[in-house]
Amino acid sequence: MSHSPTSILVTGGAGFIGSNFLLRVVPHYPDVAFVNLDLLTYAGNLLNLKAIEDAENYTFVRGDIADGGLVNRLYDERRFSTVVHFAAESHVDRSIMDPLAFVRTNVVGTATLLDAARKTWMNDGSFGDVRFYHVSTDEVFGELDDTGEFSESTPYDPHSPYSASKAGSDHLVRAYHDTYGLPIVISNCSNNYGPFQFPEKLVPLMIVKAAAGEPLPVYGKGANVRDWLHVEDHVDAIDLILRNGRDGGTYCVGGRAEMKNLAVVETICDLVDEALEREVGTARKQIAFVADRPGHDFRYAIDPSKLESELGWRQAHTFEQGMRETVQWYLSNREWLDAVMDGSYREYLAEQYG
Ligand code: NAD
Ligand code: TYD
Repeated sequence: MSHSPTSILVTGGAGFIGSNFLLRVVPHYPDVAFVNLDLLTYAGNLLNLKAIEDAENYTFVRGDIADGGLVNRLYDERRFSTVVHFAAESHVDRSIMDPLAFVRTNVVGTATLLDAARKTWMNDGSFGDVRFYHVSTDEVFGELDDTGEFSESTPYDPHSPYSASKAGSDHLVRAYHDTYGLPIVISNCSNNYGPFQFPEKLVPLMIVKAAAGEPLPVYGKGANVRDWLHVEDHVDAIDLILRNGRDGGTYCVGGRAEMKNLAVVETICDLVDEALEREVGTARKQIAFVADRPGHDFRYAIDPSKLESELGWRQAHTFEQGMRETVQWYLSNREWLDAVMDGSYREYLAEQYG
């Protein structure tokens, strides 16, 4: 059964994927009202949303998804038909340093949103045309050796505090479906790359450091494998699943672009050299192998064939073209990058929201 959103709560819409989602859907669906609830942690950046900040169908609310009072009030006042839940602590390395922050936002925050949905959406014993969309990760499935791919039926086996907290949130979303009949969909996707990603994650970090002539920290031997998905392809998949995915369904989203980390870094090095008109090979000399991440998952790979066959999703970017455009984007959006690197993006939000 398809879902027709009228009023959407987007959580974490100032982050990397959430902002790409809002930039696409706010102008595309002028009759749908969007509320972006974001705490604006270090990862939230309102500069990402400049293109839509004045749109009539868009409102920003600064707040915490784990704040039950605020969340319940928003649901009551705004009568959302739909939640698209991106907000999370999302960086594995940070989860190793501060696991409880991940439990709080990813587990307690998700439970808070679900419970408000259960209470507000239940009417005369049934839910109408409402939907809770939970954005999750392939990391909940654990790691693969050299063969095989994750699919919707892969058992959960998370290893990091990040992936364990995301697994917990996925289980809660399914529990609300199975116990109360709350209409939900979940997607689990692979590593995203593209515009507006905070430069702590591999791709933007390496672009910035390669361009600045700094050492490029590759964990271990760079032999770990990730699958790379362009964020715009992911956002297209989310919009499709939101409207046409099956109630209670799970969808795996992947880019069919498996690469060893070292190969990703070398690709970025060469693209940065080309873009800066330096001799190709210059940036590769900056590669520095450093101590491995504890509990580092060896390989992730996704089989997205259910999404392709059931909903007709096709990605528009190849890894080569997508990464070329991404390198260009970071090198030509100096204003955005400088504000992120020197921390002044925080001033922009302080100016607007105190
Ligand atoms: P991000 O870290 O860039 O953004 C997270 C956003 O959530 C930020 O704007 C932050 O301010 C906000 N936030 C954090 N805690 C909050 C709280 N308590 N209340 C309200 N807002 C809060 O993350 P992202 O890369 O855009 O990821 C979005 C979602 O996609 C996450 O759920 C993540 O687990 C999932 N995901 C990401 C990737 C990836 O490659 N980036 C891959 C798979 C799944
Ligand atoms: P990351 O972008 O943190 O995403 P995730 O851990 O969710 O996959 O890291 C991608 C891969 O790159 C992962 O195998 C760890 C590795 N990595 C490095 O080698 N060096 C770095 O500085 C970072 C941030 C990651």
